[in-house]
Amino acid sequence: MAEGKLGISVWFVLAVAFFSVSDGYGTGAPAPACVTMRPGHLNGGVAVNPQNSTSPYSIVVGDEYTPGRTVSVQIVGPQFRGFLLQARRPGSTTPVGTFSNAPADTKTTECTTADSSMTHSNAGQKQNITLTWNAPSTGVGNVQFVATVAEQKVTYWMNIQSAQLMQASSAILAKPTYYVIILCLLQSAYAMMK
Ligand SMILES: *[C@@H]1O[C@H](CO)[C@@H](O)[C@H](O)[C@H]1NC(C)=O
Ligand SMILES: *[C@@H]1O[C@H](CO)[C@@H](O)[C@H](O)[C@H]1NC(C)=O
Repeated sequence: MAEGKLGISVWFVLAVAFFSVSDGYGTGAPAPACVTMRPGHLNGGVAVNPQNSTSPYSIVVGDEYTPGRTVSVQIVGPQFRGFLLQARRPGSTTPVGTFSNAPADTKTTECTTADSSMTHSNAGQKQNITLTWNAPSTGVGNVQFVATVAEQKVTYWMNIQSAQLMQASSAILAKPTYYVIILCLLQSAYAMMK
């Protein structure tokens, strides 16, 4: 009985925490564009639709990341003027990790959390830019990069996705401390059996 009640209140707290983060009340409301990644471009006062053709841009990344380490992300294709880039868990609209070392004509921006997205800092021409993503210190499983790229104000492609990056499974085992801990545990288990 008591256990059931505890279970429910834990779920309630988790649900409240989840929704208050995802709708932005926890850390400041994200602009709607952070979720849809749709630029509010107007042409003669009329909202401009995204291109329906296959994007000429692609996002080039490696195939895995190590929690707490950086990953290089390149947007490859013809010259472009504007973009918005995030790392997300597949199927999620919440950005994960942060960006740093913004190259010329770009800047990090806040979408839900500080520096979770990259965008242009001016409308000048850019091409094949390489961005630096800092994976969260605690792994979050597979992630992928998602971008909107605007060749011109009235010509843009949405939902450009990279391949999925796996969380490197060797990250924990690579740390010598874990071997020491395991050794100590084995030693005490052995001592108890004697
Ligand atoms: C893409 O298709 C939608 C639905 O048919 C249309 O409304 C939109 O104008 C198209 N986008 C462009 C840029 O033509
Ligand atoms: C951009 O990258 C593409 C594909 O790797 C390459 O063909 C093109 O020459 C590059 N352009 C510039 C200006 O670096």
